Amino acid sequence: MILVVGGAGYIGSHVVKQLVETKPVVVLDNLSTGHRYAVDKRAVFVHGDLGDRATLVRMFEKYPIDAVMHFAANSLVGESVVEPMKYYKNNVAATLTLLETMMEYGVKRFIFSSTAAVYGIPNVDLITEDCPTNPINPYGRSKLMIEHMLSDFASAYDLRYVVLRYFNAAGAHESGDIGEDHHPETHLIPLILQHLLGLRDKISVFGTDYDTPDGTCIRDYIHVTDLAEAHILALHALLSDEKKTATYNLGNGLGYSVKEVIDMCERVTGKKATIEYTARRPGDPERLVASSENIARELGWQATRSLEDIIASAWRWHASKRG
Ligand SMILES: NC(=O)c1ccc[n+]([C@@H]2O[C@H](COP(=O)([O-])OP(=O)(O)OC[C@H]3O[C@@H](n4cnc5c(N)ncnc54)[C@H](O)[C@@H]3O)[C@@H](O)[C@H]2O)c1
Repeated sequence: MILVVGGAGYIGSHVVKQLVETKPVVVLDNLSTGHRYAVDKRAVFVHGDLGDRATLVRMFEKYPIDAVMHFAANSLVGESVVEPMKYYKNNVAATLTLLETMMEYGVKRFIFSSTAAVYGIPNVDLITEDCPTNPINPYGRSKLMIEHMLSDFASAYDLRYVVLRYFNAAGAHESGDIGEDHHPETHLIPLILQHLLGLRDKISVFGTDYDTPDGTCIRDYIHVTDLAEAHILALHALLSDEKKTATYNLGNGLGYSVKEVIDMCERVTGKKATIEYTARRPGDPERLVASSENIARELGWQATRSLEDIIASAWRWHASKRG
């Protein structure tokens, strides 16, 4: 059985939907940002908190858990700057409780949701996993701390793990049942689509004077279904002992500027956006694009869905729920 912590959230719920096709799954989620409706009915759902050791012990006693996928975290960069305690408590301390309980019950396979934020402001065209990690906010630092913990646990306790550093997850499930449903929403594509649905009066673009072809920032967008497929491959690699430890970037390898994303949203939806151009935000790197060559070579993973696929699937989802 696979324990998915944070499986009611955006990315976790998409992975669970794929995972239940082949494996029994138990989800632990406190529903702080996730949704009960998003958890596939074939999975067992436990409403509880990752930091609560008694809940974890009950789950490890009750279910024959072979591996853990860990999506649960607070992940708002701005909030992490004003409330770092929340981030170190929920992202770091609670994860330590999970790892401690896993070691106690001899569960030694772990997949961790990390982030491009561990790189900070890298000065390269394509970010590879060996680029220096230099996070510039508590959110990124909280994720990097766990990466360090995992490496130490691997040396000392034979933990086997795969760290997946996601770039910008986007898009929705092809069934139309689940998609990105964050409150508050801070991600570009849902913000644009909500604006095009009439739920926001404009879309703000922060900075038009970056050293990029159209002056707006460039980011790497990856379809959540491509992300889910990477988790399934990583799980197989761990369960088959093909991999002991690995850290992979997950992106499309293709960067799109904010302006290009808005243009694509207009094309897919046939609607015109009202754009407000404003000053740069502090801490926004000019360009963040992943090289995912390592996971392609080692696990045979490839992002197969385009920006247009991402936006079309997200539009179906947002238009159906009107938000
Ligand atoms: N969305 C992205 O583009 C992106 C990019 C890079 C990394 N990530 C990472 O991927 C993971 C998933 O992101 P998401 O966008 O799906 O976020 P999300 O907020 O939708 O999902 C997180 C889930 O974890 C649950 N949770 C949080 N704290 C918990 C706790 N203490 N106990 C139990 N459950 C708890 C929430 O209720 C939610 O269901 C996060 O760790 C995030 O940092 C996301």
